[in-house]
Amino acid sequence: MGTMNPTYPQHPMNPPGPAGLDRIRAIQHLRANPLQAAKSLAQTYGDIVYLHLGPYHIYLLNHPDYLHEVLVRQNDIMRKPRSLSQPIAEFLGNGLLISHGDYWKQQRRTIQPAFHSRYGDIYSRVMAECLLEHLDTWQDGHIYDVDHEFMMLTLRMVTRALFGSDAASASGDIANAVKILQRISYRQGQAALSVPRWIPLPAHVSKRRAINLLNDVVVRIVKDGRRRGGNGNTLLDMLLNAVDNTGSPLTDQQICDEVMTVLLAGHESTANAIGWMWYLLAQHEEVSARLYDELDGVLRGRLPTAADLPKLPFNAMIVKEALRLYPPAWALPREPVMNTCIHQYHIKKGSLLVGMPFVIQRDARYYDQPDQFMPDRFADHAEKHLPRHAYIPFGAGPRFCVGSSFALLAMQLTLAIIHSRYVLKLVDNQRIILDPLLTLRPRYGILMQVFRR
Ligand code: HEM
Repeated sequence: MGTMNPTYPQHPMNPPGPAGLDRIRAIQHLRANPLQAAKSLAQTYGDIVYLHLGPYHIYLLNHPDYLHEVLVRQNDIMRKPRSLSQPIAEFLGNGLLISHGDYWKQQRRTIQPAFHSRYGDIYSRVMAECLLEHLDTWQDGHIYDVDHEFMMLTLRMVTRALFGSDAASASGDIANAVKILQRISYRQGQAALSVPRWIPLPAHVSKRRAINLLNDVVVRIVKDGRRRGGNGNTLLDMLLNAVDNTGSPLTDQQICDEVMTVLLAGHESTANAIGWMWYLLAQHEEVSARLYDELDGVLRGRLPTAADLPKLPFNAMIVKEALRLYPPAWALPREPVMNTCIHQYHIKKGSLLVGMPFVIQRDARYYDQPDQFMPDRFADHAEKHLPRHAYIPFGAGPRFCVGSSFALLAMQLTLAIIHSRYVLKLVDNQRIILDPLLTLRPRYGILMQVFRR
């Protein structure tokens, strides 16, 4: 047993949760349909729900105060759960998303400066360039899977802005590789017993193939960066020039792990969020018309820059509302490395604590008509007046998304530039299914027909 946390209660108790057959049913429901199951458990049992299955202790956290405990106050004794991070460590190595302790701190210090607001102008120019190039490939009246389209777009944005490199030619292959990895890794994370990776089950073979493809892309990006001398201002240059606390430069492996992490974490959730945003917009003509008026009034047909964005408040409100209804990081999992407690409840070392942004951001206590798409709820930066952690699309505490400003910039520019030039119509009779893998994806994509304005 680990060291006792000083706040461990004398008379520990378990939070409410299903027992007996209900517990088995709840676990099955969580496996089959995590979002619906989590919501219904929250309705039945409340702000913290306890599930006990064999050796596993699972806690679903549906209240902002519990998120504060796990993500902020007790962050030092939390790690990303091994069961979930192991399958993704096969391709993310020891990159920022899953590293820990002093090593994580050092890497975060190296990477964070690349997201300083002083780069906003440069990034917005690169993003606009990527958008125009991508839109050049769209044919008037054609139908596209916008999930795939936005993956290719954000890949281009991330590789060009942050690594000074161009992955445009490989972006379709990369997007497919990422889809495969998400699906397989998520299942592996869920499976209580995972089969050793060297047994060539079909899933493992396609996972290996996808990883090899991504590794090749990353190695090429790093090699190109070295060849250019590492004297630019990109995140890659910062990594190439960084030294650790002993004064040694990072190894190739360390650099590749961080490039892979930022490449995947950076493009995938952003594309996802943009896809859901268009799904919402296409179903709300009045919102779409109001946005068009705002864009037309401010931009009069020219391309927006970072400096224009504050003059486009409705554009930003749509972005925020889409991230509320469809948070790509729908769950925030943690594992305590020692026994601890959350308020009056004791939590054993090694338990699975899961913060639930998807549930909290649709809670009627914080949001009027919580399932409705109503961008006006974010008028005048209303998110600043919500209870702490009631709006957490980018997480909270020290592990808050390092790329949140980059993501918001990409979303706002994409919305402004595409909406002033194109109308995207949802194709009838398709099944749009929420697929909560590592991020919240549309299972069969989102088909839309694009028309030039
Ligand atoms: C809409 C898009 C995005 C969303 C919703 C999102 C969401 C998140 C969330 C919720 C976390 C915290 C995860 C946790 O605490 O368990 C996170 C971490 C992270 N994000 Fe993002 N993210 C987005 C875009 C980006 C972009 C554009 C980048 C980089 C270019 C990025 C890089 C990262 C990295 C490296 C971490 C790990 C940070 C750390 O642990 O120190 N993300 N993201």
